[in-house]
Amino acid sequence: MGEDSVGVGIIGAGAIGRVHAENLAKRTIGARVAAVMDVDTERAEAVAAASGAGRVYADAMALIGDPEIDAVLIASPDATHAEFTLACIGAGKPVLCEKPLATTAADAERVLRAEVAAGRRLLQVGFMREYDPAHKDVLAVLDSGAIGKALRFRGAHINPRYGDDLTVEDAIVNSIIHDIHSARFMMGAEISGAHVSWVAANPRDPQSCRLADVHLKFENGAIGALEYNGDSGYGYEVLVEITGETGVACTLPNSSPSVRNAAGASQAITPSWPQRFQRAYVDEVQDWIRSIMANEATGPSAWDGYMSLVVADACVRSTETGLPVEIPRIERPALYA
Ligand SMILES: NC(=O)c1ccc[n+]([C@@H]2O[C@H](COP(=O)([O-])OP(=O)(O)OC[C@H]3O[C@@H](n4cnc5c(N)ncnc54)[C@H](O)[C@@H]3O)[C@@H](O)[C@H]2O)c1
Repeated sequence: MGEDSVGVGIIGAGAIGRVHAENLAKRTIGARVAAVMDVDTERAEAVAAASGAGRVYADAMALIGDPEIDAVLIASPDATHAEFTLACIGAGKPVLCEKPLATTAADAERVLRAEVAAGRRLLQVGFMREYDPAHKDVLAVLDSGAIGKALRFRGAHINPRYGDDLTVEDAIVNSIIHDIHSARFMMGAEISGAHVSWVAANPRDPQSCRLADVHLKFENGAIGALEYNGDSGYGYEVLVEITGETGVACTLPNSSPSVRNAAGASQAITPSWPQRFQRAYVDEVQDWIRSIMANEATGPSAWDGYMSLVVADACVRSTETGLPVEIPRIERPALYA
């Protein structure tokens, strides 16, 4: 680690890559952006210039192998994650990989096995909701005992329209995966069954997804329901609610101030994910850098990345059969105890 700071190489200079680069360069103690790689070299150069990175790469493997790079942040498309993460583990470098860890449970398992074989945690997965103050507050209520044991998890993930309609499989693997992870980490239990129903975005394309409901069973007997909306028509919201034996804890719809004037009472809508999770993205990379300096892995692990994809795979199977899918119990490796 040069200059008493962690030199981070960023792979992928798109929407989230830019957010991470700016946070690492301007809002994180102990980090510097040392290199940026993107297949679109102009993008990589622009992000490198804005974040003070001295190097630009067109080849991800060259960035990972650069001895000046202490740690790697992967923010390229989903299909590249497993391969790049495996290369980081092979090089013995800490890596923060955006969600999903892979596009199938089988590929995520290859990453998990590689890390277990390496014998130490090097990987954090970008499930940044763990760092969101609103999620942490609900969890603190549950942990305090104020609502008793958790019986049900509800999550709503409401998006503005981002472009083309996603297929229901892509909605599960790319988007609902966040909610699957939230359900696991907030309920403190693995998911043992999933059943998906959805409304097509385009009636001529039954695999397109406008809205989906996922019903969950947890191994401890609790239940859950996730709602995904791919085109809210108004903005972005992520809501969670836990029903316990003696009460309910839920996040509030919006953090913007309530305004009253002659026109009436109103509250501004959050437009999209960068605004809703601004603080979580900063805290996520700061915690990652702190953990690298302390040489103690933290945050969502390869196990979390893998198990969320096991559930996502079951959800995809449910869309194929129309039936609930049981998820067999999988032994958690001791590395993730
Ligand atoms: N945690 C979150 O809240 C969050 C939010 C947004 C995106 N993401 C994840 O981050 C990843 C990127 O999403 P995005 O919205 O920034 O997408 P994006 O399309 O805006 O950016 C992706 C970038 O990767 C580049 N790229 C494409 N192929 C590449 C390759 N083989 N090697 C290197 N770079 C390559 C593209 O040129 C582009 O600049 C996705 O996996 C997505 O799921 C996570």
